[in-house]
Amino acid sequence: MGNLSRIGVSIDSELLQRFDSFIADQGYDNRSEAFRDLIRDRLVGSVVVAPNALVVGTVTLIYDHHTRLLPEKLTDLQHESHAIVISTLHAHLDHENCLEVVVLRGKSKDVQKLADRLISTKGVQHGRLVMSSPETVSHHPHPHR
Ligand code: NI
Repeated sequence: MGNLSRIGVSIDSELLQRFDSFIADQGYDNRSEAFRDLIRDRLVGSVVVAPNALVVGTVTLIYDHHTRLLPEKLTDLQHESHAIVISTLHAHLDHENCLEVVVLRGKSKDVQKLADRLISTKGVQHGRLVMSSPETVSHHPHPHR
C-alpha cells in the first residue's frame, strides 16, 4: 500500500446510516475499507473503454421535479448534446419523483461526459451510467463494469 491520506467527507446522517447497515450486511468491519472498495469499483468502471471507442449507454436519473429549474437544466443538457442522445424515457413515479432514462450513443468520452453532467446536476438524487461497447465485449471479461 502507498502513503495513506486521511480525508473528511460531509454526508447526510440518514444516508450514512443506510451505508453503515449496507456495509455491515456485506461483512465490512469498518467504513474505510468499504469506501476504498467503492472508489476502486468506480474508477475501474470508468477506464475500461477507450475514450474514442463507440459505445451505447443508458443514464438512469431519479429526481424531484419540484427542485427549482432542475427539469429545465436536465433538458438543456440533453439538447446541447443532441447528437449523442438517441431517446429519453420519462416516468412520473409519484407526486414528487421522476425517473428518467436517457439513451446515448457516441464516443465513450462524450457519453461519459454528458452522463457525468446529468448525474452531478444539483438535485439529482440518484444517477447511474451503464455503458456497453461491442469493442469492449471482445477484449474484457467484464464488459458491464
Ligand atoms: Ni415526472
